[in-house]
Amino acid sequence: MTHLGVEICGLKLKNPTMLASGVLDETGRSMLEVACAGAGAVVTKSVGAQPRHGHPSPCIVELQDGLLNAMGLPNPGIDIYAAEILEAKMGGVPVIGSIFGGDEREIADLASKMQVTGVDAVELNLSCPHAKGYGAEIGSTPELVESVCKHAKRACSIPVFAKLTPNTSSISSLAQAAERGGADAIVAINTLKGMAISPVAKMPILGNKVGGLSGPAIRPVGVRSVYEIFEAVKIPVIGVGGISCGYDALEYIMAGAVAVQIGTGVWSEGVGVFGKVCREIMQFMDENGYSDISEMVGVAHPARP
Ligand SMILES: Cc1cc2nc3c(=O)[nH]c(=O)nc-3n(C[C@H](O)[C@H](O)[C@H](O)COP(=O)(O)O)c2cc1C
Repeated sequence: MTHLGVEICGLKLKNPTMLASGVLDETGRSMLEVACAGAGAVVTKSVGAQPRHGHPSPCIVELQDGLLNAMGLPNPGIDIYAAEILEAKMGGVPVIGSIFGGDEREIADLASKMQVTGVDAVELNLSCPHAKGYGAEIGSTPELVESVCKHAKRACSIPVFAKLTPNTSSISSLAQAAERGGADAIVAINTLKGMAISPVAKMPILGNKVGGLSGPAIRPVGVRSVYEIFEAVKIPVIGVGGISCGYDALEYIMAGAVAVQIGTGVWSEGVGVFGKVCREIMQFMDENGYSDISEMVGVAHPARP
C-alpha cells in the first residue's frame, strides 16, 4: 500500500507537503484552513522581534510564470503573533515558526520565544532578498550562517531549519555552514532577486524597486539547488520553489528533498493544491511500484558506492 507519510527531524507529517512561509499564513485562521485542506505541515509568516510595516506598495507584480514580491517582511512582532500560532496548532499538523533577525543575538532570542509559542520547529529566514539588514544579508556568507545557526540551536531545544538563498554562487557551501552550525535541516530555496520595470511609467513597478521571484519560473533553480545540497550535507533537505503539481514535487524529491513546501502554487491554485499534489504523487507511486516516499528521495543521483 502507498504510504505518503514522512518524518523530518522527529516531526511526523501525514504527507510530504508543507505551506511555505509568506503565503496564507498571516493569521492562525488561514493556517488552519491550509491544514484542513490537507497540508502535511504549515510554516508561519516570517516574524521578527518588533512589529514591522514592510515595504510601500505595489508589493506584488504578477508575471506570466510567477510572482515578483517585495512585501518587506511585514508582521506584528513575535509577542502578538503568538496568538496566531495557538490557533494554527488546532489544525493538528506540525507548525513551523519562521523567524528573521538582524544578528545572532536577536535571532537566538526569537528562536527561544518561538519555542515558547508551542511550534514544532523553527525555520531561520536567512534568505529574503529584499529586506535591508535581514534575510539574505545575514545568510550570504558561510561564516555568518554557521554562527547564526549555532546561536539559534543553543537558544532552543526544538529542531532548527535553515532556509537558504539561491542568490549566491554556492548554495551548497551555505548548506554545509548551516550543518556545521548544528541546523537540523535545510530549506531551499527562497525567492530569486529580481525587478520589473513599467516602460510606460519609466520606473520599477515595485515600491521597493527590487523583489523576489517565485513560482514556476524558479523551479529549475530550486531543483538544482536541492540536488547540489543533497550531495553536500547529511541533514535532510526540504525543497521549495515553483511547485504546483505532483510532478513538480517529484522532481524535488528525486533531487533529494524529503518534503516540499508550496507558496505561489497556493496563490495561483488555492488551498486545493495540497490535495492535488498528494493525489498525483500517490498515482505516480502506484504506477511505478513505489510504496514509500523515502524510496524516491535522491534517486536522480548516481548510485553511491
Ligand atoms: C508573497 C510572498 C511572501 C513571502 N514571504 C516569505 C517570508 O515571510 N519568509 C520566507 O522565508 N519566505 C517568504 N517567501 C518565499 C516563499 O516561502 C518561497 O521560498 C518562495 O516563494 C519559493 O516558493 P514558491 O515558488 O512555491 O512560492 C514569500 C513568497 C511570496 C510569494
